[in-house]
Amino acid sequence: MERTLIILKPDAVQRRLIGAIVERFEKKGLQIAAMKLMKIPRELAETHYLPHKGKPFYASLVRFMTSEPVVVMVLEGFKAVDVCRKLMGKTFGFDAEPGTIRGDFGISNQFNLVHGSDSADSARREIELFFAPTEVLSYRVADSAWHAAE
Ligand code: RTP
Ligand code: MG
Repeated sequence: MERTLIILKPDAVQRRLIGAIVERFEKKGLQIAAMKLMKIPRELAETHYLPHKGKPFYASLVRFMTSEPVVVMVLEGFKAVDVCRKLMGKTFGFDAEPGTIRGDFGISNQFNLVHGSDSADSARREIELFFAPTEVLSYRVADSAWHAAE
């Protein structure tokens, strides 16, 4: 089982797409281990996107991510990091394949609706930034066996 950090970005919340996006992850078989609505403090956004510090889009990315509330989630499942990245699609909406979240709901480069950790190591780092260990829950759901890999 693997965990990943997903953020429904300010554009997803403003466009009332929380339900539609969460549904994609749930239907795929990912389990919600933690979830909250929050406005990201500037310092936390800067730390979260530290690997991008120095790139031309860093400052506007931090401004965007702190502009309005977001939904932050920890999702759990077999190969959760890669599976979620596939569901999200390529970074920019205009590039992302139809059938993916970014491909179906947006056309923008920066306003791309969703963040997902890009590796198991990033996931561990990012989950720790946003959640206390006690906020990330392990529990069994009734259909979990049907979503397990052989
Ligand atoms: P994310 O980290 O948000 O899941 O997105 P990602 O891995 O697909 O893309 P990444 O390269 O990590 O970029 C982080 C976010 O920065 C914004 N961005 N804007 N204007 C630009 O050229 C540009 N490049 C990146 C996007 O919001 C992207 O998701
Ligand atoms: Mg990234």
